[in-house]
Amino acid sequence: MCSQTGANHLVSEHPEQERRLVDEVYSVTSGRPVTFADVNRLPHTCNVITEAMRLRPAAWIFTRRSVATTHLGPYRIPAHSDIAYSPYAMQRDPRSFAHHLEFDPDRWIPDRAAAVPKLAMMPFGTGNRQCPGDHFALAELVIILATVSAQWRLQPGPGTDSTTKIGITLHPKRLLMRAEPRQPLKTPVSNTPGH
Ligand code: HEM
Repeated sequence: MCSQTGANHLVSEHPEQERRLVDEVYSVTSGRPVTFADVNRLPHTCNVITEAMRLRPAAWIFTRRSVATTHLGPYRIPAHSDIAYSPYAMQRDPRSFAHHLEFDPDRWIPDRAAAVPKLAMMPFGTGNRQCPGDHFALAELVIILATVSAQWRLQPGPGTDSTTKIGITLHPKRLLMRAEPRQPLKTPVSNTPGH
């Protein structure tokens, strides 16, 4: 599932997270457009994106080929074997994540995130083929989620079937989100000098 779609849908199902997200964006921007410089000042928004990528990673299965015979735990892997592994399964492993199926963005608050085992979370893959666009993608996702959420309340509309469809990537079968303009919490600050 596209990370942005996943985040929008998960937020729509968790009103408390939605309120915190909108409050955070507004406390940083006071209604002006979100900019790249805001990304580091939106930790909760970033945690929402990270948690959406944990539960609904777009890339759900990766492959590798062993160049030499090796061992992984109790398993012997002969040279030239094809190996498939799934971040979808690993990121829902109860040994790594308490309340593993719950959407809990606060698990990425640094104190709690420190308890997550290394490589239990890998929506961008790992190793020498890890996605080189990971930081760019995260910043982009934070800016889009903050921008959209501050102005629109997204709710699933009639005819939605959000069950997961498996393809090269994961995505919902038919997710139709209705966008309602959000009432400004306070008077937006104008970007135009002198206005
Ligand atoms: C949410 C957005 C994105 C996700 C979830 C994502 C995920 C991934 C994953 C899982 C891989 C394979 C990693 C592996 O095999 O270990 C990959 C590879 C790659 N990604 Fe991304 N990606 C995203 C955005 C981007 C962006 C924005 C760019 C470029 C600006 C990018 C460029 C690449 C490239 C070039 C590779 C191939 C790297 C290689 O094989 O050496 N990706 N990405």
